[in-house]
Amino acid sequence: MEELHSALVAPQGVWWKRAGKQEKVWVTVSFVWCMILFAMMPLWHIKGGQNPSGIRATVDPTAYQRRVEQFVADYKTGTEAGVPVVSPPPGSDVYLLARMWQWYPALVLEEGKSYVLHLSSLDINHGFNLQPFNVNFQVVPGYDYGLRITPNQSGDYRIICNEFCGIGHHLMTGKILVKPALGATSSAAPAAGTALALVSSAAPAATFASSEARLAQAAPQGVVQ
Ligand code: CUA
Repeated sequence: MEELHSALVAPQGVWWKRAGKQEKVWVTVSFVWCMILFAMMPLWHIKGGQNPSGIRATVDPTAYQRRVEQFVADYKTGTEAGVPVVSPPPGSDVYLLARMWQWYPALVLEEGKSYVLHLSSLDINHGFNLQPFNVNFQVVPGYDYGLRITPNQSGDYRIICNEFCGIGHHLMTGKILVKPALGATSSAAPAAGTALALVSSAAPAATFASSEARLAQAAPQGVVQ
């Protein structure tokens, strides 16, 4: 016969025994560790060199698309595989659109020059992943994410999508060509084994406009074609 469980009847078993010493130690250790991780979140946002704070704004996806088309019309220098190739002047705002399943347009940037790279999506979430660097950003419809970037390594780089976005996800590749700085010798053959550094400025995280993402040296051997 199954017993009826009720708050009026003392339950059977030993659940109410006092916690043993080991259990208390482990609960304490877990709690302290939780608090450390909790504190690390705001701390790392301010101190972490890998968190470039972007310039963020909400944007209507179709308005963003119009802005991208204007950007393409202003600075288009060619076409590659049906995608316009755009060479914006140094210091300008650069617009990149993600959509199923394309990065639009292809970009030509200059080494050592700064740009504000705007990222947004026309349809669903995509992931901006610059190969072969460890640069990853969510590309979200309705949000314009402006990153201050200074490419400091010339080369032919690929963007892949690292957020699953449907049947054509694996085909969603884009291109950023970084031209060597004028007057400088080409650095197209860098030493292997160098790493990426994303450098935030020393400015407080609350002033997003002064932060910076720097694309540092890396070997291009791992480029995804
Ligand atoms: Cu876009 Cu996956």
